[in-house]
Amino acid sequence: MLGVLGDLVEDIVVWADGPLRHGTDSGARVFRRRGGSAANVACFAAGQYPVRFLGCVGADPVGDGVVAELGGHGVDVRVQRHGRTGSIVVLIDPDGERTMLPDRGAAKLLERAPDEWLAGLTHLHVPAYSFDGEPVGRTAVDALARVRQAGGTTSVDASSTGMLEQFGRERFLALLVGLAPTFVFANRSESAFLGLLVDGLPGPERARLGATTVVTKSGAEPTTVDVPGEDLFTVPVPPVAEVRDLTGAGDAFAAGFLAGFLRNGDLRLAAGLGHRSAARVLGSPGASLGGGGGGCGGGC
Ligand SMILES: Nc1ncnc2c1ncn2[C@@H]1O[C@H](COP(=O)(O)OP(=O)(O)OP(=O)(O)O)[C@@H](O)[C@H]1O
Ligand SMILES: [Mg+2]
Repeated sequence: MLGVLGDLVEDIVVWADGPLRHGTDSGARVFRRRGGSAANVACFAAGQYPVRFLGCVGADPVGDGVVAELGGHGVDVRVQRHGRTGSIVVLIDPDGERTMLPDRGAAKLLERAPDEWLAGLTHLHVPAYSFDGEPVGRTAVDALARVRQAGGTTSVDASSTGMLEQFGRERFLALLVGLAPTFVFANRSESAFLGLLVDGLPGPERARLGATTVVTKSGAEPTTVDVPGEDLFTVPVPPVAEVRDLTGAGDAFAAGFLAGFLRNGDLRLAAGLGHRSAARVLGSPGASLGGGGGGCGGGC
């Protein structure tokens, strides 16, 4: 079973009609959806591979709602209940670019994962957001180490350059060195920022990650897969007709990639499945698949 540890929150997705006009009103459409990068990965993976989500929400109605929504997609949801469920305002401009205002609330309060949460996991995926804040940060590090010790594979997503800058570049690289995950997922700017892939070639920090495979996405451009000791290869992205909202594309990619990897181990095929999974979210608001409805829409 695939495990994903991290944030399960409410996304308040705001589609502005035009550029924001500060100090006065700007027209918008507002949607409330289940969100959180880790929860998105779990939701997108459900249906492709058995998946368990590990996280923390508040003992409040919003928490009840997001847990029920995620469980409704077939995810085995394990949550602790402390504090207040997190909310993230996601402002989407007319070009589809996002500005996030995160208040992660209870998501930061996750304490040590009980043994039964990790039992049966063959892989654990953790977005970098989950290292930001305590006690969730040390909970994530501990859970990754325990899954690895039990013979499982692991992955970390670099999440965002803003998050990495705030966390500290060197601190994050040192964390990766210590964790030695099977895969690091990053987009082009995150990979360049970390010195893992620069202008399509392995960057100055790449060698530090030893046996870790670095998977660098690049929007509509091909994804680069850097397996240690082998030549880099790229996997092209099939064209997508209409890109309305990039929210969740990276999470959907990780879900498809990991489901593919866990099913048959072939990394080209896994990247192709990642692209297919990402393409399904690009045409709909929030981190959702096409077809309407709440959270991940009808399809995950
Ligand atoms: N313009 C696009 N056209 C087609 N596919 C796209 C486009 N942008 C993103 N994708 C798909 O989404 C995947 C991940 O995109 P991206 O490089 O934006 O990662 P990311 O920045 O981690 O995503 P996110 O912003 O959701 O974290 C790509 O590999 C591709 O499959
Ligand atoms: Mg990303």
